[in-house]
Amino acid sequence: MSRCLLVSNRLPVAFNSTLNIFTPSSGGLVSAIKGLDSSKVGFDFEWMGIMTDDVDVEKINSLRTTPVGNLPSHPIIVPKKKYDLYYNEYSNNVLWPLLHYERSMVHNSQDGWEAYKEVNQLVADAIVQEARDDDTIWVHDFQLFLVPGLVKDKRPNLKLGFFLHIPFPSSEIFRELPQRKEIISSLIRCDLVGFHDLSYLNHFRSSVQRVLGEIPSNDRMWGVYPISIDSQHFLDLRNKPETLEFIHKYKENKKEMKWILGVDRLDYIKGLLLKLQTFKEFLKRFPEERGKVQLVQIVIPSRTEVPEYQDLKQQIEQLVSSINGQYGTPAYTPIHYLYHSVSEAELSALYQLSEVLHIGSRRDGMNLVSLEYIMSQTEEEPGVVLLSEFTGAHSTLSYAVSINPWNIKDTVIKLREALHHPLSKRKEEIGAMRDFLTHYNSSDWAKVFLRDLVREPVVTDTTLTL
Ligand code: G6P
Repeated sequence: MSRCLLVSNRLPVAFNSTLNIFTPSSGGLVSAIKGLDSSKVGFDFEWMGIMTDDVDVEKINSLRTTPVGNLPSHPIIVPKKKYDLYYNEYSNNVLWPLLHYERSMVHNSQDGWEAYKEVNQLVADAIVQEARDDDTIWVHDFQLFLVPGLVKDKRPNLKLGFFLHIPFPSSEIFRELPQRKEIISSLIRCDLVGFHDLSYLNHFRSSVQRVLGEIPSNDRMWGVYPISIDSQHFLDLRNKPETLEFIHKYKENKKEMKWILGVDRLDYIKGLLLKLQTFKEFLKRFPEERGKVQLVQIVIPSRTEVPEYQDLKQQIEQLVSSINGQYGTPAYTPIHYLYHSVSEAELSALYQLSEVLHIGSRRDGMNLVSLEYIMSQTEEEPGVVLLSEFTGAHSTLSYAVSINPWNIKDTVIKLREALHHPLSKRKEEIGAMRDFLTHYNSSDWAKVFLRDLVREPVVTDTTLTL
């Protein structure tokens, strides 16, 4: 089998300096790549990602010798100060908000951009050094937009694909970016660029046209490849002894209570404040549901050094406590709020026990939590997915209940209906989505992308929809 070098900002583990150990990374990109099955995709994968130089060298070297998960990894060492500017100031403070339509959150930074260029160069150099001529290079996500161009400068014949895990916004937004030309000029040098959704591809195409004044002749090298999850893994998790233990424990407390579940990284794109306001409105509008329905909201810490994320955490916690204060009783806490990640077994138990999953993202590249929830449902008592129309998954999961998270009044009604949705309908809807995901998992996603990358595709839209 030929080798495919997966390249991303993150490796599947991150160094936790407080505990002095590596802990699993979170986020859509990592969870999808972790599930890839080499034999099914037809490539031997190796993973290149960044580690900062404040981590003990011996520890970093241990990553080189002991594969993390099932993949050999190649840490690329970057000075910590440079990394912070590249990651926090440019990637997370400029690109992330702009590409998610959060223009008021964008803080342009020249230092951030300089560091972004330097770190992309370090990553490109590492690829140029590591890659054999017959390797396939697959670069992931917005932190590494400049890598394709920099690699192609030195190794024009290397097969190189790029996948964007977040939305590509309207050209009306993208063209505000001071560095728009550098980014577009790099991406068009790829042999294939993939997006989750046709709308992202269309926005990209119009940005290329507006920024460069023309569409290059290789524009058929752009395609739509919605990501998926390791579906079988989530099916299997349902009956693991640890999962069953959690189910047993929670069932005792839950009794007849209905659960609306939320699982989101702490990020303004996830619409957490809107979701909390919606639940508050639900309790106000339907007093008969008080004491019978709880929101279980898991918030996974993320980008904790960015001030906007710290402010958001405070706002969320204030709102949770004011709702609990207003509608709680000694016997009833409306919102169970957890600010930490949970184990896979616990997550599977929560997925199985919740009547509704509420995804209220303001914008979200794909949203893999919705897919995980579907694969975790039982045949006997499946739940309902409330899914923001501003997620990439919305194009794939046509049996989910579609919501506009900004329309609180309408979402409250849909939430109520979802809680009382007939069992036969739930079985039909979750069943259809589960059948689809069983036949389209993360390995299928990678296989189709890599097939088109090495084959030079003629189709631009391979969207798979129910
Ligand atoms: C999304 C992005 C990834 C990112 C992840 C977590 O899935 O597409 O590129 O890695 O969020 O964010 P973080 O900044 O913690 O890596």
